Amino acid sequence: MVETLLPSRFQSHLQKLDPKRRLLASTIASHKTLLFAFLWIAAFASVFLWQRTSYIGGYVVGPVAGGRFTVFGKAKPLRPVPRLRPAVFDLKDFGGVGDGVTVNTEAFERAVAEISKLGGGGGGQLNVQPGRWLTAPFNLTSRMTLFLAEDCEILGVEDEKFWPLMPPLPSYGYGRERPGPRYGSLIHGQNLKDVVITGHNGTINGQGQSWWKKHQRRLLNNTRGPLVQIMWSSDIVIANVTLRDSPFWTLHPYDCKNVTIRNVTILAPVTGAPNTDGIDPDSCEDMVIEDCYISTGDDAIAIKSGWDQFGIAYGRPSTNILIRNLIVRSVISAGVSIGSEMSGGISNVTIENLLIWNSRRGVRIKTAQGRGGYIKNITYKNVTLDNVRVGIVIKTDYNEHADDNYDRKAYPTLSGFSFSGIHGQGVRVPVRIHGSEQIPVRNVTFRDMSVGLTYKKKHIFQCSFVKGRVIGSIFPRPCENFDVYDEEGRLVKPATESTVPDIDYDI
Ligand SMILES: *[C@@H]1O[C@H](CO)[C@@H](O)[C@H](O)[C@H]1NC(C)=O
Ligand SMILES: *[C@@H]1O[C@H](CO)[C@@H](O)[C@H](O)[C@H]1NC(C)=O
Ligand SMILES: *[C@@H]1O[C@H](CO)[C@@H](O)[C@H](O)[C@H]1NC(C)=O
Ligand SMILES: *[C@@H]1O[C@H](CO)[C@@H](O)[C@H](O)[C@H]1NC(C)=O
Ligand SMILES: *[C@@H]1O[C@H](CO)[C@@H](O)[C@H](O)[C@H]1NC(C)=O
Ligand SMILES: *[C@@H]1O[C@H](CO)[C@@H](O)[C@H](O)[C@H]1NC(C)=O
Ligand SMILES: *[C@@H]1O[C@H](CO)[C@@H](O)[C@H](O)[C@H]1NC(C)=O
Ligand SMILES: *[C@@H]1O[C@H](CO)[C@@H](O)[C@H](O)[C@H]1NC(C)=O
Ligand SMILES: *[C@@H]1O[C@H](CO)[C@@H](O)[C@H](O)[C@H]1NC(C)=O
Ligand SMILES: *[C@@H]1O[C@H](CO)[C@@H](O)[C@H](O)[C@H]1NC(C)=O
Repeated sequence: MVETLLPSRFQSHLQKLDPKRRLLASTIASHKTLLFAFLWIAAFASVFLWQRTSYIGGYVVGPVAGGRFTVFGKAKPLRPVPRLRPAVFDLKDFGGVGDGVTVNTEAFERAVAEISKLGGGGGGQLNVQPGRWLTAPFNLTSRMTLFLAEDCEILGVEDEKFWPLMPPLPSYGYGRERPGPRYGSLIHGQNLKDVVITGHNGTINGQGQSWWKKHQRRLLNNTRGPLVQIMWSSDIVIANVTLRDSPFWTLHPYDCKNVTIRNVTILAPVTGAPNTDGIDPDSCEDMVIEDCYISTGDDAIAIKSGWDQFGIAYGRPSTNILIRNLIVRSVISAGVSIGSEMSGGISNVTIENLLIWNSRRGVRIKTAQGRGGYIKNITYKNVTLDNVRVGIVIKTDYNEHADDNYDRKAYPTLSGFSFSGIHGQGVRVPVRIHGSEQIPVRNVTFRDMSVGLTYKKKHIFQCSFVKGRVIGSIFPRPCENFDVYDEEGRLVKPATESTVPDIDYDI
């Protein structure tokens, strides 16, 4: 089961996100009779309008279909599907059947081919109505909106024979977990421009359970496929949908520019769902991730840019990334990670208004000898840690390599990390920054930090080979590696030479 219950004090925060829904609920309660009469009228009206709607070559003439009602059963009005492109299509028009059994790959492919034929102009919209739409992987096209209605679920076929193999990503050289080709993603796109995946919170479900089991039993010869992967593309929007149970990483934008991910829910079991990262911005530029809820079996977010010698050769950084207003949970890994694959460089990242709850780690930066590249100018603001084992982690010995041919002298450079407004409770080790002689961590700033502890041992703020400053007083007390300034910027206490403290590796 996926655990999505929040601690009660955060529920009010979540409710705030959706005042309309609460208003609707109270309206329904107080005007039941009136509403019922309205529903009948609306049902007749919608049948009338629906009959008047005709399609000419896929172009909807008249009102967009979709606002029908189930009067018996749940009596739930369906939200009418908005028209977002000049040409609007419905998967059913291409032979799609949403019974959870029929395989709809060809219907999706035909619909996408139809949209790609539109050429320039405003592009096309593919509506997927309520139902369970089983499919093997398919490709998107440019100037396309995939719209998932309420109660629509796209399901990935479980048998890997239907998943095409693709060449490894150039900046990785290998499939991530097996050498050679890798499985493509359920929903895939390459060299595209202007793609939108949105809806009324419809779901894309990878049915990852069988993949996770096969992976754990080592029955797969190739790296598992992501749920949604968009490569070498620009102007991408993913909003208002739920992504769940991906075989592997959930949402993987690769070498893309101008990507917005907004109001998306990403779910996978918090244990037993290996490598189900939520979002992996990889060699991407100009990206926003906001207003999302992510609870998965690995990192909720992991910013990357390629692996060792392959990533260095490919040389595409991830930069200018804004991550804000997220609630995340990761029992196995971390809320927001940077790395460990970062060989193309990662810079100019801002992470703000982040709540991490019941997790192993809060925010983590991980790298190793052989990676090369850099991580610089990373800003964390207003981060709340609620029941997290280790709050802030920088680790420089994450020695997971593609092969043995990595350059032993390719040391990454780490500098410019700013942490402000870091609060929380139930944290065992608030800070663990372990640079090394070859990979020191430079220019780290802490201000306005107060983290409640569950663990009263000496080294709850752990440091080695790190240099930086603390502005004002923070809790817990920082280690000696930091210059301490008062709020007016006057040096109160200079840093002493960094020493390696004894470390409790078991926490
Ligand atoms: C999807 O696009 C990729 C890259 O262009 C291609 O290799 C693959 O065959 C396409 N898959 C389908 C099902 O068309
Ligand atoms: C988020 O998506 C849901 C489901 O589609 C929608 O009801 C809600 O209005 C969206 N919220 C925002 C802030 O866009
Ligand atoms: C969207 O659906 C998911 C999964 O059912 C649910 O957890 C989430 O709260 C829904 N989001 C909105 C805004 O209704
Ligand atoms: C993996 O390779 C082995 C040996 O070649 C083969 O027997 C097995 O069927 C393959 N498994 C998959 C899932 O392709
Ligand atoms: C980014 O993509 C969005 C959505 O397609 C588009 O509206 C916007 O103009 C793009 N921004 C730039 C700078 O190209
Ligand atoms: C997401 O939903 C919100 C609220 O309904 C709407 O304003 C917004 O346009 C939607 N986003 C997209 C990309 O469809
Ligand atoms: C980071 O931001 C600064 C200031 O906006 C800009 O000058 C620099 O080019 C950016 N770095 C990258 C790698 O985009
Ligand atoms: C650091 O990155 C932020 C965006 O996160 C940018 O606004 C700022 O200009 C950058 N600063 C430098 C010195 O590159
Ligand atoms: C800080 O982040 C929390 C979410 O974790 C948000 O509710 C709060 O409004 C943010 N505070 C500010 C000052 O932006
Ligand atoms: C140190 O980091 C701060 C904040 O991250 C940044 O503003 C400043 O420019 C950096 N200084 C140097 C010398 O890199």
